[in-house]
Amino acid sequence: MSKVIVIPQVHDINKALRTESNGHPAKVLWFTGLSGSGKSTVANAVEKVLFADNKHTYILDGDNVRSGLNKDLDFSAAGREENIRRIGEVANLMVDAGLIVLTAFVSPFKADRDKVRQTVGDENFVEIFVDCPLEVCEQRDVKGLYKKARAGEIPDFTGITSPFEAPTAPDVHLHTDQESLEESVTRVMNHLKDIGI
Ligand code: ADX
Repeated sequence: MSKVIVIPQVHDINKALRTESNGHPAKVLWFTGLSGSGKSTVANAVEKVLFADNKHTYILDGDNVRSGLNKDLDFSAAGREENIRRIGEVANLMVDAGLIVLTAFVSPFKADRDKVRQTVGDENFVEIFVDCPLEVCEQRDVKGLYKKARAGEIPDFTGITSPFEAPTAPDVHLHTDQESLEESVTRVMNHLKDIGI
């Protein structure tokens, strides 16, 4: 590929002005966990609380992003890396737009999550581990995918034939098999209060 030269533009309406106008800082709330662990459910419930409090929010969700922006990507390690990289860039734009972005992706690889943290800035990144044992996710099998993965119909399925690298020091560690949705939401909201949201 020939060398591409780009010179980023600086605009007058910047993140600081948007933050002041919005009345809250921008953030990325990065939910990570196995398929069926409850990422989308908790993110959706947290967004409702934030939205009701007049916060500017947006949810990026695995199945939605993979049916549009990232529909060219598979679930190989390289496909997941590119999936998370693009989402990190999109989340970064949304942070610049002053939003609280909630993301719900399996994002099984630590290196990929850490790269997003670098992209959006450590101070803007909140890692939320939606922890739930594989057996429980598999029992829930909301989308019927675990059954298919066990039958060998889905390659590289996280938790079955592809690894999930659990966060070692998440900002919030939820246990959705042991706590109610309300408790999980409260724990996320308490952390957000602690960091000024
Ligand atoms: S990620 O690993 O690249 O972060 P992402 O969150 O976008 O995954 O998509 C995960 C969703 O795609 C799961 O909730 C599940 O519904 C579906 N899916 C389909 N194939 C797989 C697979 N091989 N591994 C995990 N999830 C899969």
